[in-house]
Amino acid sequence: MSKPLSGKIAVVTGGSRGIGRGIAEKLAADGALVAVHYGKGKASADEVVAKIKSNGGDAFAVGADLAKKGAAQALFAGVDQELKQRTGDTKFDILVNNAGIAPFVGFDETTEDVLDEIFSVNVKSLFLITQEGSKRLKNGGRIVSTSSLASRLPLGAVAAYSMLKAPLDNLAKTLAVHLGPREITVNVVAPGVIETDMAAEFVNNAEGRAFAESKQALKRVGQPSDVADVVAFLAGPESRWVTGQVIEVAGGTGLTFA
Ligand SMILES: NC(=O)c1ccc[n+]([C@@H]2O[C@H](COP(=O)([O-])OP(=O)(O)OC[C@H]3O[C@@H](n4cnc5c(N)ncnc54)[C@H](OP(=O)(O)O)[C@@H]3O)[C@@H](O)[C@H]2O)c1
Repeated sequence: MSKPLSGKIAVVTGGSRGIGRGIAEKLAADGALVAVHYGKGKASADEVVAKIKSNGGDAFAVGADLAKKGAAQALFAGVDQELKQRTGDTKFDILVNNAGIAPFVGFDETTEDVLDEIFSVNVKSLFLITQEGSKRLKNGGRIVSTSSLASRLPLGAVAAYSMLKAPLDNLAKTLAVHLGPREITVNVVAPGVIETDMAAEFVNNAEGRAFAESKQALKRVGQPSDVADVVAFLAGPESRWVTGQVIEVAGGTGLTFA
C-alpha cells in the first residue's frame, strides 16, 4: 500500500534526539527518505538512521553545528552531496526546522554569550537554513518549524529562549505569503512540555511532572510522538490548505485563566 509520503524527501534538523528523532522516524515510517541532521550527536544520528532502515525505511545522517557561522551552507553541502548521488538532483520536499537549545537561565543570569548562542541556533540558523532550503524545495513542498508554547506563555526560567521562539511564529506568516505562489505551506508546531533531554528539569522529577500536568487539560507528559504525528500531518498532502499557522501541541496547556 502506498504511504502518505512515498517518494518524498525530508530534511529534519536536530533529528538525532528527542522530538526531532520522533519526527524523523515518523516521516520515514510514512514513506519519506529522511536526512537526519545532528550537531554533536553523530552516533545518535547514525542510530536513528539504522533504526529507520531496520524498519524498512530510508535515511542518511548529516552534521552541521548550528551555533557556527555558515551552518546553513555546511548543512546543505552534506544534503546536496547525498541527494545528488541518490537522485541526481538537490531538490527535496519537506523541511523540518526542529533543532534548538534551551539553556535554563533566567533574565538576570542571561549573559551576552548565552543570548548569542540561543539566537544563533534557534533563530539565525533556522532563518538561513530556510532561505537555502526554500531554493531547493519543490513546488508544493512543506516547511514546518518547532517553536514552543513558551512563545505564547513565556517561562521566566528560560526568559531568552521564550522570547526567541516568537520570531519563528512571526516568520511563518511572511514566508507563507512569500512561498504561497509555489504552493509551499509554512507552519509551526508549538509543543508544551515534552519528555526529552531538553525538558529534563520538568520531566525527571515527580514535582516537575505534576506541575506540568497541573497546567494541562490532558493529564500526562507529552511524548516526541505526540509532536511527530502533528508534524507528519503538516508535512503531508492532507494539510494542503493550512499555512502560516501556529499549532499548539501541548495537551491543552494554559487554556483558561483559572
Ligand atoms: N522538550 C520540550 O519540552 C520542548 C517544548 C517546546 C519546544 N521544544 C522545541 O523542540 C525542539 C527539539 O527539542 P527537544 O526537546 O527534542 O531537544 P533535545 O532533546 O535537547 O534535542 C535537541 C536537538 O537539537 C540539536 N542541536 C542542539 N544544538 C545544536 C547545534 N548547535 N547544532 C546542531 N544541532 C543542534 C541536537 O543535536 P545534537 O544532539 O546532535 O547536537 C538535538 O538533535 C527545539 O526547537 C525545542 O526548542 C521542546
